[in-house]
Amino acid sequence: MIILKSEDEIKKIALASRIVAEALRLLEQMIAPGITTKDVEIYVEKIIKERNGVPAFKGYRGYPASLCASVNNEIVHGIPSKKKMLKEGDIIGIDIGVIYKGFIGDGARTYPVGRVSEETQRLLEVAETSLYQGIEKASASNRVSDISHAIQSYVEKNGYSVVRAFVGHGVGRSLHEDPQIPNYGVPNTGPRLRKGMVLAIEPMVNAGTSDVVVMKDGWTAVTADGMLSAHFEHTIVVTDDKPQILTRL
Ligand code: MF3
Ligand code: CO
Repeated sequence: MIILKSEDEIKKIALASRIVAEALRLLEQMIAPGITTKDVEIYVEKIIKERNGVPAFKGYRGYPASLCASVNNEIVHGIPSKKKMLKEGDIIGIDIGVIYKGFIGDGARTYPVGRVSEETQRLLEVAETSLYQGIEKASASNRVSDISHAIQSYVEKNGYSVVRAFVGHGVGRSLHEDPQIPNYGVPNTGPRLRKGMVLAIEPMVNAGTSDVVVMKDGWTAVTADGMLSAHFEHTIVVTDDKPQILTRL
């Protein structure tokens, strides 16, 4: 069942999402060679608290941290660690969920650490653009798979693969609501999109194969071939006009 949100509920999701957006913006200056993924978590926790939000991921299905930090071949759900130090040329995906007044915003971005190779930069650009290709299709009366198909075709046209093991989702009082939003599919199938739906669209784009392995920690998902992966996510609202992106300043 897909929950349609009232204007008042959308306002709360927008406030939660704004905190996510501010944290993702502030990280542009913070992420650099020599910091650890734990440093990132501590920094973001402070930003969220200062704004009276609560990290949405901590404790979710037993997840042990306030955000996900996924480096290089890690796709999603990397657990912050004092032992994981960033170095020049790495990429790091940061995924943040915030609860504000009972409602959740969810967003992610993959950052270059210092200078990265041209090929790495291209992966980041294709992954981010694929998110916007998907968002563009998130208009009322389109269907869920129109989003999926737009993402997949853009990514594959550019020589990369989309991860199938994880999907985007509805978001609201709960982090994961219906519908599921795969990053692949044929157009014009699945639920119809309606005004008031709030969706977290989140392509994960691999430089090589789409296959995933989950590490022994039970969370960290890595590429099966060890190649790079990039992840971008926005929380958006379906309206009668263009979708509104909530996790962007
Ligand atoms: N944005 C991710 C998702 O929607 C992050 C969830 S991490 C978890 O799946 F720990 F909360 F599961
Ligand atoms: Co999400």
